[in-house]
Amino acid sequence: MTTLAFDVYGTLIDTQGVSVTLEKFLGEKASAFSRAWRDKQLEYSFRRGLMQNYENFSVCTRDALDYTCALFNSALNQAEKNELMEAYQMLPAFEDVKEGLALAKKSGFRLFAFSNGSSDAVDTLLTRAGIREAFIDVVSVDEIRSFKPNPGAYCHFLRRACALGSDTWLISSNPFDVIGALSAGLHAAWVKRSSQALFDPWGIEPTVTVSSLLHLPPEILKRQESAKGLHDGH
Ligand code: 2OP
Repeated sequence: MTTLAFDVYGTLIDTQGVSVTLEKFLGEKASAFSRAWRDKQLEYSFRRGLMQNYENFSVCTRDALDYTCALFNSALNQAEKNELMEAYQMLPAFEDVKEGLALAKKSGFRLFAFSNGSSDAVDTLLTRAGIREAFIDVVSVDEIRSFKPNPGAYCHFLRRACALGSDTWLISSNPFDVIGALSAGLHAAWVKRSSQALFDPWGIEPTVTVSSLLHLPPEILKRQESAKGLHDGH
């Protein structure tokens, strides 16, 4: 049976959703602020992973918020920052997610959420977005105190899901995650919802690229059929 590991932030859940709260405090700078905050949050997780100086993802998010406030010269007070962190726990799912997950389940795949976020944070987020029950379990890198794309994170996922890399797909909109999973021996689908999204030119390509989660199950099945055909010598 094929296992699907869905990345959470930016893939199932729209991190730009925090812009609604940000607009109250920052007006038209909200969406640039939100992007810079997200980039810094990821950078901090990568650096903490490399330095082996682990703190969980919400610490990276909070530290990145402080940094981004300084960068944009915006003196948000503690209550406002707390409100933003709270909003980060109530982000919406992308439009195609509910139906895409239902279709993936119907196609016979085993679905897991797999995130750099802590289990509690991800559980809350998915529950509030109304999609938690689609997943067999939430696997968090917090359990090994490191972050994707450390290859150990993908190995940890396989162990937790009792799955083999050859039967497992990482599903992510984040190119760093797609490349990380491929390098660790999994298949990977890049969810490219915007035509503007860029992939890193590392010479490592996603197994499939889809513009919506609705296209994911048929693409994976197609890919498996043609691999089977090759194997059977057709
Ligand atoms: C995740 O949910 C970081 O988006 C990333 O793991």
